[in-house]
Amino acid sequence: MAYSLTFMFRLILLSLGLTANNSLNLKEDQTSTGHGDGICKSRLEIYGYECQEHHVTTEDGYILSIQRVPNGRSGTGKDATTKVPVLLQHGVLMDGITWLLSSPDKSLGYILADSGYDVWIANSRGTKYSLRHMFLSPSNSAYWEWSWDQLVAYDLPAVVEYVYNQTRNQKIHYIGHSLGTLMALASFCEHRLLDMIRSAALLCPIAFLDQITSSIARASANAFVGEVSYWLGLHEFNIIGRSGDELLLQVCNQPGVNCYDLITSFTGRNCCLNSSSVRVFLDHEPQPTAMKNMIHMAQMIRRGTIAKYDYDSYEENMKHYGQAHPPAYNMSNIPNNFPLFLSYGGRDALSDSNDVRHLLKMLKCHHKTKLKVRFLQNYAHGDFVMAVNAKQLVYDPLISFLNLF
Ligand SMILES: *[C@@H]1O[C@H](CO)[C@@H](O)[C@H](O)[C@H]1NC(C)=O
Ligand SMILES: *[C@@H]1O[C@H](CO)[C@@H](O)[C@H](O)[C@H]1NC(C)=O
Ligand SMILES: *[C@@H]1O[C@H](CO)[C@@H](O)[C@H](O)[C@H]1NC(C)=O
Repeated sequence: MAYSLTFMFRLILLSLGLTANNSLNLKEDQTSTGHGDGICKSRLEIYGYECQEHHVTTEDGYILSIQRVPNGRSGTGKDATTKVPVLLQHGVLMDGITWLLSSPDKSLGYILADSGYDVWIANSRGTKYSLRHMFLSPSNSAYWEWSWDQLVAYDLPAVVEYVYNQTRNQKIHYIGHSLGTLMALASFCEHRLLDMIRSAALLCPIAFLDQITSSIARASANAFVGEVSYWLGLHEFNIIGRSGDELLLQVCNQPGVNCYDLITSFTGRNCCLNSSSVRVFLDHEPQPTAMKNMIHMAQMIRRGTIAKYDYDSYEENMKHYGQAHPPAYNMSNIPNNFPLFLSYGGRDALSDSNDVRHLLKMLKCHHKTKLKVRFLQNYAHGDFVMAVNAKQLVYDPLISFLNLF
């Protein structure tokens, strides 16, 4: 059964490719994009980009890989010391490939390098290229003892500080997708890292989650919160592994969840995907994460709050936070003059437009010249990183915004 569900999942994902463009060749070898080779080899060097592999160790011992693309495709602006660094942070169940899913003229990672930026691509703990730890292995349950609170407290500061040091203390433009936006918002509202960051562009902002329309995400949240201790006992969450199979078994039996169109039930109906990008996505993603991270997001979906992980126990919360309830992240505390670019989609089932408007309400005192909002009626969650027209609709305006700061 486990095998058949995993198989079904891949088949459904493939069918998405077929609907995006009927030319998908099912016989093509899965290794065609060389996903065993690392991000530099498989997605950058094949197109003629110089790429460097870097590593940074977080305060709690995770060894994260970072890819740097210092120059454009033609080597434009080589050795220029004035290049401004841009850090790209992916979301949950994804990794740095997020920014390199399409061809060099269509994906943001390449476009930024070709526009003269010094591009740095982060990979969060637990994803394929950031699996190492100083003394734990992913087969230890302790390895998976974290939620996005720790991505905010440890991963993001380690990566930002590393890039800042490597670029001789140049302030960084931050670009996040999905959970990569919450990592930034949560840091900024605690006034962390702001001295090293120039501006932030947030694609599919995730902050409030209670209006989420993704039937799969909502049903999953109910399953997780309903049986927390059972799910926590699995430690690692992997949609193409045992935990994913068990979840799909529960969730797909619920009324209103259409598992035959899994991606659409999860992300919303993407308007503009190309089957080649979908195939790159399938070759590399999805990535595992900590079960605790999934449960933390489930708490946000169910409660409508943005707070630290709730241990659901007076003693445990007292031990970790010194108070009975987990402390909230207050989005209104983000400094009003910090440059923010937000882009969200009308069909996004994860970053729902009502939730984004709730976030914008919290930012209502933000200086008008420092906040640019771009709404795309037809876009869903995947379009922001994979759509064939994302350059025109999102990245060109985004880069104009960066150029202001
Ligand atoms: C999809 O991407 C491939 C590879 O980059 C390209 O050859 C093809 O023209 C694209 N199709 C569309 C509809 O953009
Ligand atoms: C960055 O540089 C500072 C000051 O030299 C140093 O204390 C810190 O450990 C460095 N951080 C990283 C992640 O390289
Ligand atoms: C959040 O911060 C704002 C502005 O700093 C403040 O007015 C508001 O009371 C805070 N909200 C909560 C729930 O603490």
